[in-house]
Amino acid sequence: QKNVPREAFTAAIDQGTTSSRFLIFDSTGTPRASYQMEFEQLYPHSGWIEHDPYELVNSVKTCIERATEEFVADGYVVEDIKAIGVTNQRETTVVWDTESGKPLYNAIVWPDTRTSKLVHELRKKEGSEKLRELCGLPLSTYPSSVKLAWMVRHVPAVQAALKAGRLSFGTVDSWLLYNLTGGVKVGLHVTDPSNASRTMFCNIKTLEYDDFLIDFFGVRGVNMPKIVPSSDPDAYGVLSDGILKGIKIAGCLGDQSAALVGQCGFTPGMAKNTYGTGCFLLYNTGNEPVVSSNGLLTTVAYSFKGHKPVYALEGSIAVAGSAIKFLRDNLGLIKHSGEIGELASKVKDSGGVVFVTAFSGLFAPYWVDDARGTIFGITQYTTKEHIARATIEATCFQTKAILHAMEKDSGTALHTLAVDGGMSNSDVCMQLQADIMGIDVDRPQMRETTALGAAIAAGFAVNVWQEFDELKNINREGRKTFTPSTTEEQRSGLFSLWEKAVKKAQGWVD
Ligand code: G3P
Repeated sequence: QKNVPREAFTAAIDQGTTSSRFLIFDSTGTPRASYQMEFEQLYPHSGWIEHDPYELVNSVKTCIERATEEFVADGYVVEDIKAIGVTNQRETTVVWDTESGKPLYNAIVWPDTRTSKLVHELRKKEGSEKLRELCGLPLSTYPSSVKLAWMVRHVPAVQAALKAGRLSFGTVDSWLLYNLTGGVKVGLHVTDPSNASRTMFCNIKTLEYDDFLIDFFGVRGVNMPKIVPSSDPDAYGVLSDGILKGIKIAGCLGDQSAALVGQCGFTPGMAKNTYGTGCFLLYNTGNEPVVSSNGLLTTVAYSFKGHKPVYALEGSIAVAGSAIKFLRDNLGLIKHSGEIGELASKVKDSGGVVFVTAFSGLFAPYWVDDARGTIFGITQYTTKEHIARATIEATCFQTKAILHAMEKDSGTALHTLAVDGGMSNSDVCMQLQADIMGIDVDRPQMRETTALGAAIAAGFAVNVWQEFDELKNINREGRKTFTPSTTEEQRSGLFSLWEKAVKKAQGWVD
């Protein structure tokens, strides 16, 4: 037995779009053990993206076992893990039979565009103009509401379950929590306000389900998860099985909210950008929801028990890491995602190439579902290095467009953007981001901020931390700042080329 100090640990399940992870943090926010695994992406038709719901649960269980085995092998004690937080890919929609606990369809993943026609139809429906004010989200293919409505229309098993009063709906947090707390008959059917605010069923002010929204999408009679605080010692039950059986689950946050918490973005005016499969900029607006007039979403950042809810304005980019994965898996331009920065740095610019990576249409601030991925400006001179650079720049340009929208909505200019997630590992990418935006980019050394945020939500509930102030030194060491090296003239020249390309990439789908 190794002689390690006894202290309180908190752990996090991080179920993302392409991989699952489990991390165990000490009270300084340092990970002491972790395990990550990828799972299969199912693409049954062009534009369709699905996950096997059982694979999500099983990958999480495997990660819990492996990370905890490492933790124990290092001499730590399982009983010192005081609580577990859950964080997850948002909007992805799971349905199961309330009686049998079995899924009735594969999970429809958030960037899936099969609902385009339905969205066009619903936009014409009476009352559609009220949606944004009620729930904070624009009607698009992105939220859970249209995914569930599609299943109710097209999947016979789902229709039958609804008729029989046995149709349970959940985002990935709910599905995981249900299974991790025992599943059929005993599993808890719950969600937190940050996840509920991505469904379009939840009223953004009351944080309760809204009858108008439920009826608008035709899902009355569906068993919805109970909305409970994001940090709560009593709402989430305990793990029913496995190496951590009996350990309390005490927190739950959608992954982008968790990253804001993990970056300690507790003060209004703080913002973070997380580069994952997509890329999501969240700007803390305090205790009141701000409805955007510039194409941003209003979302719950977090709502801890005993505290007022905190809201954010969000700029969601559908494609970021997935474009790099596309260069790797579909085009074979790189062998590993991590090579992208090095490849892009071999050229001094993109050689006039602009890549609008609109694989699932364009999200914020454009909201154009008939845009598709388009590469402009290719000449005989173009090399794979130029394309690699243009791929990174696509996310950076969209981030800049979101920043503009945020400044218009909030009336204040941001001076620093905190970053995390896969692409932020590359210095080249982050320098490009600073050069394109014209403001500083601030990167922490420990970039598992999403998991840290979920661990903080859980740790808060069980008094590992009691005040937000205690967290202000968490994850502060070793941060690196990227400062813009471009002139305003260079930046606006590049950005106007991007905007021209965005206009030309639209209208591709009937
Ligand atoms: O809204 C979708 C988002 O939660 C997915 O995040 O990190 O898997 O791209 P990520």
